[in-house]
Amino acid sequence: MTTEIFDIDSMPRGGPTASWLDRRLQTDRLEYLDRDDADDRKRKIVRSLDRSEKAFGMHRKLARIVLDEITDVRDPTILELGSGHGGLSRALLEMHPTAHVTVTDIEPASVAAIAAGDLGSHPRATVREMDATAIDSPDGSYDLAVFALSLHHLPPPQAARVFAEGTRAAAKLLILDLSRPPALLHLAMLALALPLVFVPYWHDAVISSLRAYGPSALRAMARYADPAITLELRRQPPILPGSPQIAVASRLQ
Ligand SMILES: C[S@@+](CC[C@H](N)C(=O)[O-])C[C@H]1O[C@@H](n2cnc3c(N)ncnc32)[C@H](O)[C@@H]1O
Repeated sequence: MTTEIFDIDSMPRGGPTASWLDRRLQTDRLEYLDRDDADDRKRKIVRSLDRSEKAFGMHRKLARIVLDEITDVRDPTILELGSGHGGLSRALLEMHPTAHVTVTDIEPASVAAIAAGDLGSHPRATVREMDATAIDSPDGSYDLAVFALSLHHLPPPQAARVFAEGTRAAAKLLILDLSRPPALLHLAMLALALPLVFVPYWHDAVISSLRAYGPSALRAMARYADPAITLELRRQPPILPGSPQIAVASRLQ
């Protein structure tokens, strides 16, 4: 097995093989969701995310992708990392009659809001605070861990930690995130969205797009985390801008 030497701290979001243009279509600017000085705005954005994902049927669509990964497990235990609002976990519990879901996020206010809602008293849900880069559960605690629309929030060294930790605590780690468009298409999409950035939701959407990881970056981070991790990357047809990147990671047995 070959081990590639590269600097994880400076790896471009498009990965070690990113083109000149792709390397320019990224930013270190933080989303409101990542800032410690914007609590009200953060809560509003999390609620908007929940509403828009519900309106476009995203919760159920992502839940289908999750459940398709564990069709062979009878009563699956699922860990949702970076749950934000709990929409995906709620869909999982509705769509699978015996699944147990641990619903988590690093943000205490989001966890408190989820715990105060229906998931807080659901008999098959546990709601708790958790950092996806330092999962406080023993090895192999879950059949599957899922991190949805969140990996791009983390810089490469921390994102690589998610691969290490997710495949340690769960038999499979499923990353669902924004796909990184080819550079020219990305440039055109950003030009269309830029006039909207004064709206907080679009401000975060544009930064998310600039921070989305490409397939080569996902492969490099999984390899960096542990060469024993196998990674399968795919998209669901039709492959349109905005269709999520699916990454399934597990450790060689
Ligand atoms: C864009 S939101 C996605 C929320 C939800 N998963 C969804 O699909 O809409 C990103 C979430 O990742 C969470 N997050 C960021 N860093 C994290 C970390 N290290 N561990 C766990 N969650 C994290 C944020 O608090 C936020 O709730």
